[in-house]
Amino acid sequence: MASKNKKLNLKDKYQYLTRDMAWEPTYEKHEDIYPDESFEGIKIINWDQWEDPFRLTMDTYWKYQAEKEKKLYAIFDAFAQNNGQQNITDARYVNALKLFLSGISPVEYAAYQGYARVGRQFSGAGARVACQMQAIDELRHAQTQQHAMSHYNKHFNGLHDASYQHDRVWFLSVPKSFFDDARSAGPFEFLTAISFSFEYVLTNLLFVPFMSGAAYNGDMATVTFGFSAQSDEARHMTLGLEVIKFILEQHEDNVPIIQKWIDKWFWRGFRLLSLVGMMMDYMLPNKVMSWAEAWEMYYEQSGGALFKDLERYGIRPPKYQDVANAAKNHSSHQTWATFYQYSQATNFHTWMPQEEEMAWLSEKYPETFDKYYRDRFEHWDKEQKEGNRFYNNTLPQLCQVCQIPTIMTEKDDPTVFSHRQIKHEGERYHFCSDGCCDIFKNEPEKYIQAWMPVHQIYQGNCGGADVATVVEKYYHIVPGVDNMEYIGSPDHQRWLDIKGLKPLSASRDKTAAA
Ligand SMILES: [Fe+2]
Ligand SMILES: [Fe+2]
Ligand SMILES: [Zn+2]
Repeated sequence: MASKNKKLNLKDKYQYLTRDMAWEPTYEKHEDIYPDESFEGIKIINWDQWEDPFRLTMDTYWKYQAEKEKKLYAIFDAFAQNNGQQNITDARYVNALKLFLSGISPVEYAAYQGYARVGRQFSGAGARVACQMQAIDELRHAQTQQHAMSHYNKHFNGLHDASYQHDRVWFLSVPKSFFDDARSAGPFEFLTAISFSFEYVLTNLLFVPFMSGAAYNGDMATVTFGFSAQSDEARHMTLGLEVIKFILEQHEDNVPIIQKWIDKWFWRGFRLLSLVGMMMDYMLPNKVMSWAEAWEMYYEQSGGALFKDLERYGIRPPKYQDVANAAKNHSSHQTWATFYQYSQATNFHTWMPQEEEMAWLSEKYPETFDKYYRDRFEHWDKEQKEGNRFYNNTLPQLCQVCQIPTIMTEKDDPTVFSHRQIKHEGERYHFCSDGCCDIFKNEPEKYIQAWMPVHQIYQGNCGGADVATVVEKYYHIVPGVDNMEYIGSPDHQRWLDIKGLKPLSASRDKTAAA
């Protein structure tokens, strides 16, 4: 590429330092070295047209990352030495971190593995370097999150077995199956799913709730991680956009394939984010913004502009986008209500929102909260105060695709579940929505393999014949400590002790599950 005696420009120089290291093979066939590039139907005419999404060489990568790491670990150390966990708004907040460490950190690690693989599979050397750098960024995220949370793990319950629980606990199969789906797919789908749909389109809906949530609630350790990961994420987003444009420009036959993946991964990502929505509206003692506002800003507005931009490639916005937009006024309430009644089987606590939080919810959800959700919450609150804290001891039906209990409702009627079912090869399968049902129909042979936690409990594969045994022995959730109601929990008690507040009256810790 480089002609002699001519000074290289920035672009050519970077390609000289990356792509020019690779060569055309002679003693092995190209397709034997890169056997995974064709079976998905994607046609790549010329990898040379790949535009580098960023131009970091290894020495600059080491240098900039090292500077970030040094600052990050200095703050983690200071946070621990000064018992920074005592500066959070109140201990209810830590439940967001329990969800984060068991639901999100393990998928950072899965992303590391996924990018390590595609960083081998692509025959374009520029794309390989970009994916390899993302792989080691994700390894960094997985590890720095362990370190950020390690001090909380000493002082609060529910954080002690996160990656173990990720593989087993019913609701953690929601993030786990999401990433397993992406990693069992081919390399181009992996990139469309994770780099584009997740890291580009939906990334702010994951990061802003957790990181701004930490900022609004006095959690220096988590904010610092988020702050430090910002510039990694900027690169990840650039890769996401570059990859989609590159694939679309390579061949017109790629367009319908990519459209199908956009539809699928938008819907799967949206479903996964229902966990984040409830976190944002219910688990943060100091609110950042409502889930509905976040969805409007980061999906409806930003996503709207993006898909407008992609029109020129023949791409339309994701299917069932209208259903997702309408769900913004319901999903956090529906999800929190579900976790409230099943928190005998979670590694975090739930509680009923306080009166001023309910007032905030009424204000943020003027069309829906008072009409559909407040009465139920006030009823449960009253029951709880009378010593009958509600736990649902009948396990829920799960969606065959997203694995969330089928708690979601019809777009035009929030009093009717959007349950769907079909028969496939003599077996019956159930879904939370048309979005999940379509995904199944496209690849039933994939989703019939799903390890559905509730089914596996009934199959006897989870170490116990009743939920209490499964929770304790198979999930490693410590009964009465990690799980159930926040009020009266050891975390709550410890928090009152830290703040020098008086102990709880005995009547309130007796609200045990059956
Ligand atoms: Fe990450
Ligand atoms: Fe990322
Ligand atoms: Zn579903």
